[in-house]
Amino acid sequence: MSAAPAQRVRKLHALIEQHNYRYYVLDEPTVSDFEYDQLMRELQQLEADHPELLTADSPTQRVGAAPSSAFQAVRHPAPMLSLENAFSAEDVEAFDRRVRERLGTGDDVRYMAEPKLDGLAVSVLYEDGVLVRAATRGDGEQGEEITANMRTLRSVPLRLLGKAPRVLEARGEVYMPVAGFARLNAEQLARNQKPFVNPRNAAAGSLRQLDSRITASRPLEICFYALGQLQGRPAFTTHGEALEALRDWGLRTSPEAREVVGLAGCLAYYQQLQARRESLPYQIDGVVYKVNDVAMQELLGFVSRAPRWAIAHKFPAEEATTILRAVDFQVGRTGALTPVARLEPVLVGGATVSNATLHNMDEIARKDVRIGDAVVVRRAGDVIPEVVRPLIDRRPADTAHILLPTHCPVCGSRVERVEGQAVARCTGALRCRAQRQEALRHFAARRALNIDGLGEVVIGQVVERDLVQSPADLYGLSWEVLAELPRMGEKSARNLVEAIQGSRATTLPRFLFALGIPEVGEATAAGLARHFGALDAVMDATPEQLEQTPDVGPVIAAHVAEFFADPLNRQIVGQLRAQGVHWTEGKPTRRDLLPLAGKVFVLTGTLPHLSREEAKQLLEAQGAKVSGSVSARTHYVVAGEEAGSKLAKAQQLGIAVLEESGLRALLADPAGFLAAGKAH
Ligand code: IVH
Repeated sequence: MSAAPAQRVRKLHALIEQHNYRYYVLDEPTVSDFEYDQLMRELQQLEADHPELLTADSPTQRVGAAPSSAFQAVRHPAPMLSLENAFSAEDVEAFDRRVRERLGTGDDVRYMAEPKLDGLAVSVLYEDGVLVRAATRGDGEQGEEITANMRTLRSVPLRLLGKAPRVLEARGEVYMPVAGFARLNAEQLARNQKPFVNPRNAAAGSLRQLDSRITASRPLEICFYALGQLQGRPAFTTHGEALEALRDWGLRTSPEAREVVGLAGCLAYYQQLQARRESLPYQIDGVVYKVNDVAMQELLGFVSRAPRWAIAHKFPAEEATTILRAVDFQVGRTGALTPVARLEPVLVGGATVSNATLHNMDEIARKDVRIGDAVVVRRAGDVIPEVVRPLIDRRPADTAHILLPTHCPVCGSRVERVEGQAVARCTGALRCRAQRQEALRHFAARRALNIDGLGEVVIGQVVERDLVQSPADLYGLSWEVLAELPRMGEKSARNLVEAIQGSRATTLPRFLFALGIPEVGEATAAGLARHFGALDAVMDATPEQLEQTPDVGPVIAAHVAEFFADPLNRQIVGQLRAQGVHWTEGKPTRRDLLPLAGKVFVLTGTLPHLSREEAKQLLEAQGAKVSGSVSARTHYVVAGEEAGSKLAKAQQLGIAVLEESGLRALLADPAGFLAAGKAH
């Protein structure tokens, strides 16, 4: 055999492992997935052509192997320790005090602070730089051999980078990132298999597979945080140095690890990591502080199974168990009924929780939750607390099924559940006070009619006093009436009336969005406005006609048609128009028939009253194209304050320049404006 293939195979090993390292460890890939796949394919081909060149440390061998019958037991050369826990700042303070007393120092101690990853501990052994064995922690003395499975993790190098020591045993945590966990569970459900309870269980289940091909298909990652054995190079003097060396050998360590000084440094680190907890791509259940100086670690030693030089400072648990006492139904803007669990109050994620969402009836059925059950409640960060699952083995004999009410708990209208949909809705529409309140909130929102000062509190007050039955009634409110509301003075009342009156000039997309038709968001409203050009055309369209709108399917079409089939909704639209709510209507459907079709505009500088986005939307609504740069193909440049090079270029090219007033004149009567322009 010639030397060339052998050389190329070695080169490919190095290249691919280097790319793995950049991708999985440094998170800084330098090649595209395509180029990576090409290298992989080339290697596979060479190995197929020259089987003698296929070695166990080849990157092609990460795909997993056929099942083994059982895991071998592995005795750890040095026990894999656990950590003591601290649950409060006082616990950490006591830990730091004990450390300083034992060391006989009054000075601040330097610690390495690291996230405490929620996965499972493993040990990975390298001899002369080659991965030879991996094991689970087990009971700390003895674990299970999982080498074949660990080889399938791409963040585990099969060969160390750089100058490797004779023996290196690195220890770390295998975990499943939250995104991968969500994907895996979606796949499990699609295959009619049981989803995993949490990423930790999913990681443990994936790693303890006798068939490593299954492990290979699971999104597992590793983060190394400690050394076991080390031979053939001098010991490290600090933990921080050891982490750096691990990283240089190609072993992934936490990018969040920091040296901190004293108790204050520990607590500050804890605070800042806790604040970011929910935005991290993996789950952590606390932070770990480790005395950084190895000589100090040796002085401190161990108690039973845990080092005296380290402690885990736990975050408040995000899950807790409590009793589900009752279920109420809340009514939202579109009438959707959300089941809300009334719970025996319980401390979760650092706060007392007595209400949690049960999402909808399908979720209740899927989880089989019943009133009287012991349930797991989860509260993570700013997310609304939710009931995760019942504890079936603790189910008492007298639980009650959760039933969907037949009538709305707020207004008494019939509750309807469309076949195949998870949501049940109150059919009361604006006759229902709950829907009215939410509808008004939506109507006044910034992206709808944008009524400044009309927030949740004021809306609650005017609805409660029956001052407002529908959005149209807002325009009849006088400042004298508003001034009577609690905590509202004459000045704010006058301002609010002014804001309400000022909101009457709007756009058709905003108006359609503001009506709060189920499933019609801003983009859909804009699409309908463009397609139909005028409100009456939308109101009178059949579901089939509505479906002709780009991005509108049968579900949205049905919602729109149903909304305008309700005489009450038509009446409200009529009242709004009568109150002077208005917008410009364009020509319908085809964009090439719109008055500004084919005209290219460039916006530059700050306009006095319109944001750039608003100006853009207004222009596009009439068929114009808004471009980012001025060229010979530009028809108009709209310039505001501090317009710079684009304005200069327009002048140089002799392109017409408009100020905001000119733009408004154009938008008010595009055809007339363009015709007048031609006359000049
Ligand atoms: S150090 C002697 N560092 O927490 C030190 N452990 O409760 C031994 N863990 O079994 C462990 N993140 O599975 C250490 N940054 C970290 C960790 C960490 C998670 C786990 C590990 C250990 C358990 C102890």
